[in-house]
Amino acid sequence: MDYFVIEGETKLEGRVEVRTAKNALLPCMAAALLTPEPVVFKAHAQLQDIAYMAGILRHLGATVEDEPGRPMVITAEEIPSPECPYDLVRKMRASAVTLGPLLARFGRARVALPGGCAIGARPLDQHLKGLGALGADIRIEHGYIEAEASKLRGAEVVFDMPTVGGTQNVLMASVMAEGKTTIRNAALEPEIADLASLLIKMGASIEGLDTGTLVVEGVPGLHGAEHACIPDRVEAGTFLIAAAITNGDVTVESANAGHLDALLVKLREMGAAIELVNGSIRLRATGELRAVDITTAPHPGFPTDLQAQFMALLTQARGAGVVKETVFENRFMHVPELMRMGADIRIDGNVSVVNGPTPLNGAETMASDLRASACLVLAALCAKGRSEVRRIYHLDRGYERLEERLNALGARISRVQT
Ligand code: EPZ
Repeated sequence: MDYFVIEGETKLEGRVEVRTAKNALLPCMAAALLTPEPVVFKAHAQLQDIAYMAGILRHLGATVEDEPGRPMVITAEEIPSPECPYDLVRKMRASAVTLGPLLARFGRARVALPGGCAIGARPLDQHLKGLGALGADIRIEHGYIEAEASKLRGAEVVFDMPTVGGTQNVLMASVMAEGKTTIRNAALEPEIADLASLLIKMGASIEGLDTGTLVVEGVPGLHGAEHACIPDRVEAGTFLIAAAITNGDVTVESANAGHLDALLVKLREMGAAIELVNGSIRLRATGELRAVDITTAPHPGFPTDLQAQFMALLTQARGAGVVKETVFENRFMHVPELMRMGADIRIDGNVSVVNGPTPLNGAETMASDLRASACLVLAALCAKGRSEVRRIYHLDRGYERLEERLNALGARISRVQT
């Protein structure tokens, strides 16, 4: 398993381009199952999760042309058996969003339950409740979701909590259902509106984007389309935090600042200078970092996917920063690793209190999930001396060649292949 060796005390300066959002492209790839015609996506980052989703679509019988730097073309003309086996689903839980489109197009689907993951149980009860409301017969057998629906009918769906995947699954199931579907307490993440905009290009009738209530009029069928997914707000936020933690000056290009309000407000409160210049975000550290409190929440709240990275920054800020994680039940696995580097953090349930600034010392650390690995890289950039970050396969799921892009800004990271 590859690992990073990182020399600390570097300052990041320069410009970096943000890539296509992983969490927008994954559901959009699944949406291609809704039509026999080709769906074409603008060239995207080479990420492990995108490769996993391409593998699942090919397993189902779709063709996926996906050459680096070239548009990706997905054609789901024939799907001999709408089944996603456990050994594919267990690698990436986002494959659960194939359930809705398979049901909508073929009237049945057999998708393995993904099981838990490091950050939490992440059940699919809301997905199944929504699909059931549309008339699907859902059974759980031998670790698989067995879903059947001769004809999906529009319905009123009200989620117990805003769920990104649940909203995506039910939205894709509803676009060809008979009649009108109203989805209330729908997730507001920008990736939802991005998926809806693709579905509308494919011929779907959807209203209420970014309002929390989606209204869908079922249509007989969908056709192919071309789509460029939104930029990756989590990647953009990670680079901005990297600039702040190294006392640097970085311009993040092709980012959508409107997707990052909660983070930008907090970075400004801490003392960073932030400028929005047509389609890019520049962060200049001012030498002063004051601690702030954050509470993660569904969009437009502070994104849980930036919580770990932000906590690394709080170790360098003056004062006590309170981090409350309300979305997932176990998303503090990066804390013990930060403490091994010298951070002063106390955990109490779903709250961590970070006292700073504390000088971090390089150490051998281990990543536990995608965003925790980004946190450890950021901490190592500002730590004194040399660090290692192991299990960076977690990182490769969501960041393309991160070490090369950080090194281009002044970092000193080498990837050791074992
Ligand atoms: C998406 O996961 C993202 N993944 C996650 O990003 C992100 O952290 C999460 O949304 C929250 O923003 C992708 O888009 C591929 P949820 P998802 O359903 O859809 C509970 C990353 O690092 N819930 O909004 O699985 C659930 O347990 C990943 O890129 C139920 O209880 O998230 C969680 O506590 C990590 N029942 C909360 O809702 C359900 O049926 C939010 O989950 C569904 C969800």
